[in-house]
Amino acid sequence: MHSYARVYMDSTLFFVLGILGFSLATENFHWGYHGDSGPFYWEQHFKGCAGKSQSPIDIPREDAEYAEHLGFIQFNGYSDLRVHTLKNNGHSLQVDVSGDSFIEGGGLEGLYKVSQFHFHWGRRSDRGSEHTFDGTAFPMEMHIVHYKTEYGSINEALNKSDGLAVLGFMFKVTPFGSVFFFEKFLKKLADVKYSGESTHTSPMRLADMLPIPWQNLQYFRYNGSLTTPPCNEVAIWTVFTRSIFISELQLQQFRKLYANEKSSKSFERISDNFRPVQPLNNRRILRNF
Ligand SMILES: *[C@@H]1O[C@H](CO)[C@@H](O)[C@H](O)[C@H]1NC(C)=O
Ligand SMILES: *[C@@H]1O[C@H](CO)[C@@H](O)[C@H](O)[C@H]1NC(C)=O
Ligand SMILES: [Zn+2]
Repeated sequence: MHSYARVYMDSTLFFVLGILGFSLATENFHWGYHGDSGPFYWEQHFKGCAGKSQSPIDIPREDAEYAEHLGFIQFNGYSDLRVHTLKNNGHSLQVDVSGDSFIEGGGLEGLYKVSQFHFHWGRRSDRGSEHTFDGTAFPMEMHIVHYKTEYGSINEALNKSDGLAVLGFMFKVTPFGSVFFFEKFLKKLADVKYSGESTHTSPMRLADMLPIPWQNLQYFRYNGSLTTPPCNEVAIWTVFTRSIFISELQLQQFRKLYANEKSSKSFERISDNFRPVQPLNNRRILRNF
């Protein structure tokens, strides 16, 4: 009886909202990665997520076309020592980057400025990355998000087809991981255990997060989207072949973060926060090697 009544009320609510021609239901939808807030439902609330050039994708390594014009990505200001803001946004661990760091070259037209980086990971190490290589997933993937400086701000860039340049790095589990990189913020994760919390990192260089060596990196290139709602098709993707190292112990620290605010009544860990791969739909995948 009880559950019948609830279903009835929910459908009445949707009916009323439908009559108003007003999508309050969409505004109340809190997207996530599990159950009926998960990736398969995003497109019902965010039209963009049903687009034809979505990310992530599976990259068939042998089928990517070599493109001589691409060359290497140049990292500028990545060696400057700076303090950044670390935050738990309920979907991921995100680091908002302060100061000016840019990428150029690598077939990109113009200069792209760093805005933030964040991570996608699995509850277990047999999954977690968003992109896959020949169907194989990695335990974690980092995205460094840059916007085209010409557009002035990330919000403007989110509406331009070449607005963002996102760099994707895969992680590989090794016994000691990447001590240098993770020391800078793993210790801080206790300060951002709950959604909405933020803190500052120790002074760090963006370059220290990159695979070693970080010059002349090989990568795949394709045109795609944000991998989270509203899934804007505005991202030029660069997915690198060389992995960053991480240990199981370091991965465990990420898996302890909560998707809920501290004042919540129930808690869920942020886990398996990756979108499944999307259809390629005849897009080209290039490589610089
Ligand atoms: C930019 O915004 C306009 C108006 O909302 C929309 O029609 C257009 O598709 C958007 N462009 C991109 C690349 O998202
Ligand atoms: C991405 O889109 C732009 C603009 O349409 C196009 O010039 C470029 O060749 C595309 N890149 C790839 C890898 O398909
Ligand atoms: Zn991402």
